[in-house]
Formats: sequence, C-alpha cells, structure tokens
Amino acid sequence: MTRPGVAVAILLFALGCKKPVQPGDPLSGLFEQQLDRFARGKIVFDSVFTPATGLGPLFNSVACGECHEKPAGGRGDEVEVHATAFRGGVCDALVQEGGPVIQRHAIPALKQALGIDSEPFPPSATARALRTSPVVFGRGLLDFVPDSVILAYADPDDKDHDGVRGRPNRFVDGRMGRFGRKAFVPTLRESNAGAFVTEMGVTDPAQPTEENIGGKPIPAGVDAVAEPDGRLCPLPRAADAPEGGSGRTARPPGLLTDRVRRLPPPHAAHWAPGNARFAQSRVRRLHRPVAP
Ligand code: HEC
Repeated sequence: MTRPGVAVAILLFALGCKKPVQPGDPLSGLFEQQLDRFARGKIVFDSVFTPATGLGPLFNSVACGECHEKPAGGRGDEVEVHATAFRGGVCDALVQEGGPVIQRHAIPALKQALGIDSEPFPPSATARALRTSPVVFGRGLLDFVPDSVILAYADPDDKDHDGVRGRPNRFVDGRMGRFGRKAFVPTLRESNAGAFVTEMGVTDPAQPTEENIGGKPIPAGVDAVAEPDGRLCPLPRAADAPEGGSGRTARPPGLLTDRVRRLPPPHAAHWAPGNARFAQSRVRRLHRPVAP
C-alpha cells in the first residue's frame, strides 16, 4: 500500500472505531468551559425541589429529571393534563383559568388553604389532552437552526405535492417558534424557564410570576418563598470559578439550556426497532435527518 493509502486506511479505521454516542453524552468537540456548563446543567436538571426551595404551590413533578429520565435524560412515564377551549375557530389556551397545563399536585400549604390536591380543571374547557414527556436528546439542536432554514422548508400550500404542509409558527411578538406545542416558543432558554414554572412552580427572572390556581390568586401565606424561586436551586461552582466563590454566576435556565441544546441524538443503534418502523411510516417525510 502507498503511503497516502496507509493514511486513508488508518483514518477510516479510526472513524469506524469512533465510540458511539451514548444517551446523555455531550456533543463532540465542546470546549472545556462548555463541557463544564453541560455537567452543571445536569445537576440543575436532576435537582429535586421542595416547597422550601420554591416548589409549587401547584406542580406536576419535583425535578426536570423526574419526567425526562429514561435513559439518562430521555423519555418519562409521567402524564400531564392540558386543557383548551376551541371557540370561533380559535384555540384558547385558557391561561386566565390556569391552563393550558393543569397541574396534578399541590404543596401541603395550598392543600391546607383550599382543600385541593391538584389544580381544578377549567369548566369552560372544550378539550382535555394527556401528554407524556418526550426524550430531550437532539431536540435542543433546533436552537441552533437559523430562521432562514426553517423558512426554506415552509410549504403551506403543499406546492411540491408530497402531502406535507410545513407551516412555521410565530410567537406573539413575531419571532420564529421552535419549541413546545406547535413549536410556539422561540428559544430553548424561554422554553426551559417556562417548564420550570409550569411543571415545578419554580420562578426565574425570565418567568418571574407563579401561575394562578384555576384562575384565582394564590391564597396569602401559601407561597412562603419570595420570587424568583430559582435562586434557591443549588448551583455547583464553575470549574474555573475563584476559590470561595458562590457558584451563582449562572442562572438555572441558562445552565439547563447549555445542557439540553448540547445533547445529540444517541447512536442510531439505540433506537433501532423504532427506526425500522419510522423508516416505513408516512411520518418519515415530515422529518429531515440533516439540516443544510
Ligand atoms: C411533569 C413532567 C415534566 C417535567 C417536570 C418537565 N417536563 Fe419537559 N416536557 C414534558 C412534556 C409533557 C413535554 C411535551 C410538551 C409538549 O409537547 O407540549 C416536555 C417537553 C420538553 C422538551 C422538548 C420541547 C420541544 O418542543 O422540543 C424539553 C427540552 C423539556 N421538556 C425540558 C424540560 C426541562 C429543562 C425541565 C425542567 C425545568 C422539564 N422539561 C420539566 C414534561 C415535563
């Protein structure tokens, strides 16, 4: 074999031996500081909140990792309840009545004040939906995809006749939506801060207000922790932080974002049975394996 031939053979061998990405691994090629934030993000993701550290008054679970746990930050078995009302051709998320997510648990102080174990289901809802938590691997990468790429795939009138109508969604302020139901929320950071309040009742400067209780204010004395609750989340110190520093140089949603957006989809082998079914399904046409 010629010298270049040997070099190519070694390169191919090395590529062939590349360790497959395991669920929970970071994207390859991250800088040290990015890896540090990725690791600290996992601690925030798995932090268990209590009423004393800001949980509730209403909540669905006590930690991000409780719902996205299988495997290592993936799918969960919790089911959450959504309520909406469809009136006059418009879908109302019923925010004024506590929607769209109707929390399934209440902290003891709320139970004592109102005698409820969960948020009351809005009487004016016309639909009730149950949602299980999806895997978070790979989903955060959408944060890096520019608006122009999303718009390039738009085909609201199905002009290419493939039966798929791509309709980009816009947030209330006109920014391109990427996350959540119908891709409404523009950035992963906003989406994570929203999950903090909606799922755990934990507020942050980005989402400073607790949700109401079925449309009514929180009774006095129930929420013992001053907002924003997120400041009570235990934050590990950055690896390069000065000795004796508090570690509070980052906010929890920021660290969560640096974790979730750097979780690549695991190696295809992990999802092999699903892949085979997926490859045969019509839904496959809605998904692009690679963005340009
Ligand atoms: C009670 C369970 C529960 C908890 C706790 C929870 N989630 Fe989720 N998560 C869900 C469900 C259900 C969805 C799907 C929501 C939807 O489709 O509207 C979801 C979706 C997501 C997505 C995917 C969004 C997308 O559109 O691609 C991310 C990322 C995510 N959650 C991160 C988090 C983070 C970070 C936390 C902690 C702050 C968290 N979740 C806490 C249940 C939960």
